Amino acid sequence: MTSLNEYTDEQLNYYRICCVTTDILAEGLRVIFKQEWDKLYKTTTGEWKDEPRNGMDFYNRESPRNQKRNAHLLATMKNGNSGKWDCTMLFYAILFSDCVGPSLSAIVRKNVDDLRNFRNEEFAHMPQGSLSEIDFQNAIGKVDVAFQALSLPTVKIQNLKCQKTFPTKDLTKVLKEVDNLKQEVQEKESQRQILEDQLQNEAPSFCVLPPKPSHEIGDRESEVAKIVQQLRELNESSDNRLSYLYISGNPGSGKSQLAGLVAERFFDDLKEMPGGSSFVMTLNAASLDSLLESYASFARHLKCPDYSIVKTLSSKDWTLDKKITRLKKLVAVKITCYTSWLLVVDNVTTLSSVHVHLPQFENEAWARGQLLITTQDTTSIPSEKLFC
Ligand SMILES: Nc1ncnc2c1ncn2[C@@H]1O[C@H](COP(=O)(O)OP(=O)(O)O)[C@@H](O)[C@H]1O
Ligand SMILES: [Mg+2]
Repeated sequence: MTSLNEYTDEQLNYYRICCVTTDILAEGLRVIFKQEWDKLYKTTTGEWKDEPRNGMDFYNRESPRNQKRNAHLLATMKNGNSGKWDCTMLFYAILFSDCVGPSLSAIVRKNVDDLRNFRNEEFAHMPQGSLSEIDFQNAIGKVDVAFQALSLPTVKIQNLKCQKTFPTKDLTKVLKEVDNLKQEVQEKESQRQILEDQLQNEAPSFCVLPPKPSHEIGDRESEVAKIVQQLRELNESSDNRLSYLYISGNPGSGKSQLAGLVAERFFDDLKEMPGGSSFVMTLNAASLDSLLESYASFARHLKCPDYSIVKTLSSKDWTLDKKITRLKKLVAVKITCYTSWLLVVDNVTTLSSVHVHLPQFENEAWARGQLLITTQDTTSIPSEKLFC
């Protein structure tokens, strides 16, 4: 890629002064010339309208001496279009012509002469194509003062004074491309938002049961039916709140397998019902480690942000308790998308130590579900509590 020279601030100052001297100055002088001409000749020879007739009138009013001396300027000026007159012509027309020059007021004469000096002496003799900030402000200030004294508009001068960027075709093109890119990014972002919303509202159905032994197991038909019925009744009487059902007994007595059979039936029954989404999940509460692992799997089934799950699991500063609490919070956000669900909390050794990590009755988010808890901790089962 070829690299173009960047313009320094000092160079840009110089170009700004060029702009003042060539464009703004000439524009102002044209106004003054017309104003002075009209003052003298509007009612007699005619208003200055930049017409050939005006040019000839001007020419004819010049003395033979001036006509001769300024022949090269008058060749253009004769045509009458002051838009084609440069500063040299305009200074001559205002200050030194026979028809306008002698009638100027002192103020006009002085300020137009100041502008002439500025252009011919200062600007024409700037040694380099660059100007310090102080010199620039000083130079443009002189034009500004003269323009004000001549009652000419100074908007363009003020704008140039504080202009800090210099738009070019290339720059405009680049800025347009930036705009297009910004718009593209915005569209992508709104598409992403839509996808995320879909993901948020998506509530995939799933059924995670306690692991089965390698051998066939009996279906315990009547017990399963009885417990499923109890779950249903609990749900109906729970007034849309979280309810608990405990299966207790000695280790190895078949609680986990029974809970699995119940949960499977529960899920099959829900599948029959139209509309709404449901799930069955199993948490292994045998230890904090297994509980954390279960909650992570739970969160993944619910499509919680994987980033948050991984971050929680891999944190070196947090205790197991804190990690479980964090995952439980992630889960609670998603759980409200489901109309009914069953959570099997399996293999609880001591209810009191696990309790804090279970869905809480008071928390609204968990209101639409049921807990099926298997425990050997028979004595701790709350017998009097509501919805148990
Ligand atoms: N319904 C069943 N049919 C056949 N074997 C069973 C059944 N339920 C349990 N078992 C056997 O008993 C073992 C322990 O059952 P499990 O449900 O894990 O007991 P618990 O959860 O009460 O400790 C199982 O691995 C399985 O071998
Ligand atoms: Mg068990």
